[in-house]
Amino acid sequence: MLHLNDKVAIVTGAAMGMGKSTAELFAKAGAKVIVADYNVEQGQAAADEIKANGGEATFIQVDVSIEEEVKNLVEKTVETYGRLDVAVNNAAITPDDKPIAEMDMDYYERLMAVDLKGVMLCMKYEIKQMLAQGSPGSIVNTSSVSGLRPQPSNPAYVTAKHGVMGATKSAAMDYSPQGIRINTVCPGAIDTPMLQNALLQFNLDPEEYAKKLSMLGRFAQSEEVAHANLWLCSDLSSYVTGATIAVDGGYTA
Ligand code: NAI
Repeated sequence: MLHLNDKVAIVTGAAMGMGKSTAELFAKAGAKVIVADYNVEQGQAAADEIKANGGEATFIQVDVSIEEEVKNLVEKTVETYGRLDVAVNNAAITPDDKPIAEMDMDYYERLMAVDLKGVMLCMKYEIKQMLAQGSPGSIVNTSSVSGLRPQPSNPAYVTAKHGVMGATKSAAMDYSPQGIRINTVCPGAIDTPMLQNALLQFNLDPEEYAKKLSMLGRFAQSEEVAHANLWLCSDLSSYVTGATIAVDGGYTA
């Protein structure tokens, strides 16, 4: 069955966008959800909304690029709900890239720290906890179609998102024998604050852009990515590990 009954889940970047939709869906599917984000106001509001709708959720503030904070996130999760079963490492920052010859290296360092190192750090402490429990687990790392096909003038983000896929496959190889499945989801053009900012920033026509980026000719809703996350974290995907699932309306097909 497609449910997460009695499972404890961490979703990073859960204050808004796809992370928020994933946290909401996981709670509806029966999970106890840690809403993890560095945005306190919106993260707390997201957790409160889940509780108001009858789900179980707790907000924990974290900057996924800081090791001590990620360690604390997993420790507090275990203090709150006793264990950790599934995680979606989704937090990332918006690409504001320039071609390599013009690259601002401070920007590069920050993007890599959040979008790639953040995923590594989360996996490190989530896997440690799952191993300590000796029970199976499932982790989904959010990459992007930019991890499959480079976008122009986007080198730092493209590099980080390719890295997420490599880190996922490497970790899957090391920990699948202990029953920890680790997969990547590559969203395409999903209608979230991140996408809306990019449309404004680059003055793009939404309709034209949607047609260019999807066989289906539309942007996806963040729930459509949450559905893939739910399947990968549920027992229905029990033979899936090290996989890359594109939720991109056929863009990279
Ligand atoms: P969003 O910008 O709407 O939400 C990102 C969330 O991550 C925010 O709540 C933000 O506060 C949080 N966050 C950022 N840095 C953080 C940090 N250092 N520590 C903790 N939390 C942090 O993003 P969206 O669009 O929902 O994207 C989610 C994931 O999907 C990201 O990994 C993104 O790269 C990826 N993606 C998004 C696409 C889109 O079209 N929106 C397309 C392809 C991939």
